[in-house]
Amino acid sequence: MTAKIAPAPRPGILDISPYVGGEARIPGVERPIRLASNESALGPSPKAIAAYRALAGEIHRYPEGSAEALREAIGARHDLDPARIVCGAGSDELIALLLRCYAGPGDEVLYSRHGFAIYPIAALSVGATPIAAPERELCADVDALLTHVTPRTRLVFLANPNNPTGTYIGAAELARLHAGLPPSVLLAVDAAYAEFVNRNDYEPGIRLVDGAENVVMLRTFSKIYALGGLRLGWAYCPPAIADALNRVRGPFNVSTPAIAAGIAAVEDTDAFARARAHNDRWQPWFSERLAALGLPSTPSVANFVLPRFPDDPGRDADAAFAFLQRHHILTRKMGGYGLPQRLRITIGTGEEMEKVAAVLGDFMARQ
Ligand SMILES: Cc1ncc(COP(=O)(O)O)c(C=O)c1O
Repeated sequence: MTAKIAPAPRPGILDISPYVGGEARIPGVERPIRLASNESALGPSPKAIAAYRALAGEIHRYPEGSAEALREAIGARHDLDPARIVCGAGSDELIALLLRCYAGPGDEVLYSRHGFAIYPIAALSVGATPIAAPERELCADVDALLTHVTPRTRLVFLANPNNPTGTYIGAAELARLHAGLPPSVLLAVDAAYAEFVNRNDYEPGIRLVDGAENVVMLRTFSKIYALGGLRLGWAYCPPAIADALNRVRGPFNVSTPAIAAGIAAVEDTDAFARARAHNDRWQPWFSERLAALGLPSTPSVANFVLPRFPDDPGRDADAAFAFLQRHHILTRKMGGYGLPQRLRITIGTGEEMEKVAAVLGDFMARQ
């Protein structure tokens, strides 16, 4: 009789701690205030919703496999060659595809200590070793990243601005990071929150991609365009990298409704301007209110903030999370990122932010 041996996942897979997303529900609460997943406060463009609905009668048809019309719309908006754009089911998929193409067992994948949690997960899932470089004041540190590059490094992931810290590095620092990397190392600049940034020294990565063979820029429709439920992201790449991604991606990896809604969203510059103006107003307002309550946050340039709570057990981040939840407000705990004293709070509607500020005022005033 042959011994029964169960199928075993490849080495590294069981080292992965599954990604824990923001909570969406509070038992018994019909409509909680959801500030746990950095979704845009104002919801999608009405034109994107209409485009999505208009496709209901067509969902028995396969999508056009290369999302050409969407790539053209993105290209027109950003003045980019559509042939160098690859779309994916969220930028998460593009991160995974980059790893499948460029890293494997024995390779190292470098990221910044409090970088987006998917990078180490995606690295482990192809058998590569994630390496975290230390940060300075919760911001990526170019020197630390460069000193952690070894002959085994294949990819460097930089979320800029970063989730969950909200911090960013300017164009000159980004260029210095790229200049310090060997040409064989691929730099992936994940600019998921680029559209929210209102700083003159910021560059999402397009210029770097245009001038190099070893840089890609990742973008998403989940944040300012508020289409997270449809799963849509894109990469702007050197031609050889676009070619590699197109070989490994699923042939229909972006759905017909996502393509249609994405085109409408990217063309609706009024909805975009409203979402941007909303964040420009409420993010600084909320950050200042938090600071006035004794809850300082890292200087965020994105649509969320990361206040630090006192160490005192009655007023720490866990107590604040529970207090907010009792008031039907969902935020994100940061223990998984090694920041247990902090909560990440997404910028919601004006009414929601006023309520959160008031509830946190009560929380801090408690005896
Ligand atoms: C920095 C960063 N990159 C990528 C993503 C993934 O976005 P998507 O919804 O496009 O997969 C997120 C989502 O939170 C993010 O914060």
